[in-house]
Amino acid sequence: MKFAGRLDLVPPYLFAELERKIEEKHRAGIDVISLGIGDPDLPPPPEVVEEMRRQVAEPANHRYPSNRGLEPFREAVAGFYRDRFNTEIDPDTEVIPVLGGKEGVAHIALACLEPGDVSLSPEPGYPPYTSGPLFAGADLHYLPLRAENDFMPALADIPTQVADRANLLFLNYPNNPTGAILADGFFERAIDFARRHSLIVVHDSSYSEIAFEGYRPPSFLETPGAKDVGVEIFSLSKGWNMTGWRVAWIAGNAEIVERYRQLKTNLDSGMFDALQLAAVAALTRARDFPQEMSQVYRRRRDLMIEALAATGLPAAPPKATPYIWAAIPEGYSSATFTELVLEEAAVVVSPGPSFGPSGEGYVRISLTVADDRLEEAARRIASSLRVAATA
Ligand SMILES: Cc1ncc(COP(=O)(O)O)c(C=O)c1O
Repeated sequence: MKFAGRLDLVPPYLFAELERKIEEKHRAGIDVISLGIGDPDLPPPPEVVEEMRRQVAEPANHRYPSNRGLEPFREAVAGFYRDRFNTEIDPDTEVIPVLGGKEGVAHIALACLEPGDVSLSPEPGYPPYTSGPLFAGADLHYLPLRAENDFMPALADIPTQVADRANLLFLNYPNNPTGAILADGFFERAIDFARRHSLIVVHDSSYSEIAFEGYRPPSFLETPGAKDVGVEIFSLSKGWNMTGWRVAWIAGNAEIVERYRQLKTNLDSGMFDALQLAAVAALTRARDFPQEMSQVYRRRRDLMIEALAATGLPAAPPKATPYIWAAIPEGYSSATFTELVLEEAAVVVSPGPSFGPSGEGYVRISLTVADDRLEEAARRIASSLRVAATA
């Protein structure tokens, strides 16, 4: 059999490899604690589940949806942006539902890039910032996110000939995997850069609702001029514990939204109407739910940071996201450290380089497991490090 060569352009999907390792341990009867994947352990808001139950019982909701999305869904998104970000979105032309943020990230590349174009993709970063452009036949230019730059891309370092060939710039704040938050004035600089080089900015806002100590992450669309150059991808997955539902949207520049709709009419048939109507409940009646979840993650963050510090692994507490980006101890690579905690502690963490080469020297710890399991994982990591130190 012959398959498309584009599938070989990207390494096996990070989490597929982690899942395989976890499965192996499970089969061997080992109690593995996975801090590898950002998949919330707690249930969605009850109002949303109840609304879904009601809407799924409506026969009219079971027909093909439209790719544009239902008016109540688009209105609810506009209302949410107005109240949360003080930003106006035209529900008729500036928003489209997508089947999870991942669909948006991967497919926006198909709508915006062609062979010969360049995608400016941050790394370490969410893997579809790489695979989406490669599948579209475009070239990649990685933007390294380094601690010394507060994990912001250095736009000024991009060679002019690369910037001129670029047609897409991915940004993501609060950031996965580093947990970094947006630096002051960065969106303004990105808009200016996009104007100078005629490129499209896609801001992935998947983590804007998980933030701590009063910090409220901004929307890209709040920045003057943002809608002239780009769009934002927003997902209910993390803030509302709805990863399995696949509910997200792309909002912003009307031309990009329309082009995306055109692409989608050829790829899928839109989001189940019942899901869209349940999402309305999330955005109206359960609007504050992510703040409750942020309290939970803040408690878990402190617990894990304290445990890591006690084992000589100081990590900065993130101001947002359910992730700790921990620098690994001297004498290890990200891979050998990940191997150590998997083999000695049966704890799964994500090695930094799985998010890109600049992730070397780090692991990502996800806080999406119950407190008692997280405490147990911290205890096990500490004892595996003690064992390794005395070995
Ligand atoms: C940065 C980032 N963007 C987008 C997503 C996609 O989330 P979903 O497809 O569940 O909306 C994730 C999920 O982990 C992510 O980390």
